[in-house]
Amino acid sequence: MRVFLTGATGFIGSALIPELIDAGHAVLGLTRSAAGAQALIAAGAEPHRGNLQDLESLRGGAAKADAVIHCAFEHDFTRFVEICEQDRRVIAALGAVLAGSDRPFIITSGTGMGTAVPGQPATEDVANFDHPNPRVASEVAGAALLADGVNVSVVRLPQVHDTEKQGLITYAVALAREKGVSPYIGDGLNRWPAAHVLDTARLYRLALEKAETGARYHAVAEEGVPMRDIAEAIGLGLKVPVVSISPDEAASHFGWLAMFAGFDMPASSALTRERLGWHPTGTGLIEDLQRMRY
Ligand SMILES: NC(=O)c1ccc[n+]([C@@H]2O[C@H](COP(=O)([O-])OP(=O)(O)OC[C@H]3O[C@@H](n4cnc5c(N)ncnc54)[C@H](OP(=O)(O)O)[C@@H]3O)[C@@H](O)[C@H]2O)c1
Repeated sequence: MRVFLTGATGFIGSALIPELIDAGHAVLGLTRSAAGAQALIAAGAEPHRGNLQDLESLRGGAAKADAVIHCAFEHDFTRFVEICEQDRRVIAALGAVLAGSDRPFIITSGTGMGTAVPGQPATEDVANFDHPNPRVASEVAGAALLADGVNVSVVRLPQVHDTEKQGLITYAVALAREKGVSPYIGDGLNRWPAAHVLDTARLYRLALEKAETGARYHAVAEEGVPMRDIAEAIGLGLKVPVVSISPDEAASHFGWLAMFAGFDMPASSALTRERLGWHPTGTGLIEDLQRMRY
């Protein structure tokens, strides 16, 4: 398939390009910049210039492709609600191009959207459209397209990691470095799910090839890593003290990250493994934090 990949220059997109090309697909990758275009050509993909604000540029990419995988997202969490609303518009625009065909459209969400009961692992069969996380907008937009007959499926992500980046934990590392302390909230037993970036890339490719309309997948290798273990690995790496702080103190250390830092959000991938034959093999989150160069 010729796949239009948004976010092709990003952390996950960069891992997904070789995964797709090695499986015989061609990649048309969205990029905003000349440097991004060069990087895509070097990776064996064809660049498509455009950006998330210019919906016409996105429609142009989708019109040239047999399938679309949407990984682009502006990670400015100080404008998170606005950016999530942008994602809603982007998904609607890309999906409208694919309407009336069976061309697969894979969108990206977070595992938290599959939470039915707080504290219980999120599952693929649950879609909580009332979730307080504004990122729910992405799945609401996907569901609207599904109702219009578009072949949409959803890949939900946990903290995706290697030894360079670890999702939101990358911001926690930067804060610990800046403030000289690596905190966790309360007893630190709240859990975050995780997966290695190469396993995540393989999951997108399997989802693309399965092209099952309405499917939801969880790229979860580890169901829930306690925040205390994460804070300790960061503290060891940076050689800074690890401390417990109260929920009231969280905002002053974590800033915008405080809205996530205390969440207990375990997630299961049992159905994904069964449906896609996906078996993650990458290193674990703590091991990558231990092997990272601080
Ligand atoms: N990494 C994780 O742990 C994690 C966890 C949960 C969900 N996710 C989701 O997974 C997806 C991919 O994440 P990632 O970690 O690969 O992100 P990333 O490394 O921050 O890359 C973001 C990508 O989006 C592109 N982008 C940003 N703003 C854009 C704009 N205005 N116009 C066009 N392209 C734009 C970037 O292109 P430029 O090169 O031009 O900046 C880049 O290719 C996102 O939807 C993210 O929210 C990731």
